[in-house]
Amino acid sequence: MRGRKEIIQQQFLNGVSAGKLRKIALAGAVAGCYAGWMDLLECDLPGIKKLRGGKVREVFDLGETLLIVATDRISAFDCVLPTAIPHKGEVLTQMSAYWFETLDFVSNHFLTANFSSFPNVLQPFKAQLAGRSMLVRKTRPLPVECVVRGYLAGSGWKDYQATGAVCGHKLPEGLLQASRLPNSIFTPAKKADTGHDENITWSQCRALLGDEFSHEVRSYSMELYEHGRAKAAAVGIIVADTKFEFGVAGDEVLLIDECLTPDSSRFWPQESCVPGGNPPSYDKQFVRDYLETLGWDKSPPAPALPQDVVEMTSQKYIEAFTKLTGRGLLTA
Ligand SMILES: Nc1ncnc2c1ncn2[C@@H]1O[C@H](COP(=O)(O)OP(=O)(O)O)[C@@H](O)[C@H]1O
Ligand SMILES: [Mg+2]
Repeated sequence: MRGRKEIIQQQFLNGVSAGKLRKIALAGAVAGCYAGWMDLLECDLPGIKKLRGGKVREVFDLGETLLIVATDRISAFDCVLPTAIPHKGEVLTQMSAYWFETLDFVSNHFLTANFSSFPNVLQPFKAQLAGRSMLVRKTRPLPVECVVRGYLAGSGWKDYQATGAVCGHKLPEGLLQASRLPNSIFTPAKKADTGHDENITWSQCRALLGDEFSHEVRSYSMELYEHGRAKAAAVGIIVADTKFEFGVAGDEVLLIDECLTPDSSRFWPQESCVPGGNPPSYDKQFVRDYLETLGWDKSPPAPALPQDVVEMTSQKYIEAFTKLTGRGLLTA
């Protein structure tokens, strides 16, 4: 089993340009004692108002702006596990930042992920924040999750088997699980504060958002997905589906939240994506496979993960990041 040091070194040896790096995890990994480097399961910043805590991310209110912190928490089967995945928060934040910087044909909320340019009030929290957090513009989030599907998976596959359609999109007969759809489809869901988001029809979406916003977020979502899908496919990662969120600031609609990460999307390794099979998750498969061996009933509390599963999973997240972005992971 490879240790964390080797995993990080491998990423380094994979051709990451040292010039691009502010600091690389190698520095922290060598002795495991680099001052600012730690796994993060909980994030509280005394004196800074927390707006909400999600399964993985924490959102803090800075007035005009928000601070979004990605912890190293991981969820599986809808439960948050008690074990941290090293560098997962950094991967999520820096992958979103990459897309926000490159998919700039849609306006988005991203301001910076560079800790040294964060406001003074945040400077005491470097160890918790650097590399895993971003400042964004505060918006009024639209109440719809903008899901785009390019492949038949999950609830879409179940829906297709039962009805021949996915969320009302009629599809050709004979498609298999993991088949690529003839055209990607937009399948919005109404955000639920508790429990699961609920799929809605296009006309329900228009009733909720109005015609103009509905058309806008649908075409933005389709375009973003297509760019992300193509970029990922070129490096051997299938983005089977993904979810975007949008918010309103003034009279502008902005892409908000996270963008094309393994937490907001279904990533599959291209080589195992065979129609008719159930492709493994690029990032979470070791975790799922392990949990399936336990006979756990998938209700909280979730079991802890053993070290080898943690290390292999961490490596997968870092691998997805470096492959997709061509960047080196910056750590505290
Ligand atoms: N720019 C923004 N303005 C307002 N709210 C935002 C913005 N970006 C993200 N959010 C909100 O932050 C929240 C993130 O929390 P959540 O999705 O529960 O976290 P997780 O994905 O870790 O479970 C979402 O409700 C999202 O709508
Ligand atoms: Mg979320």
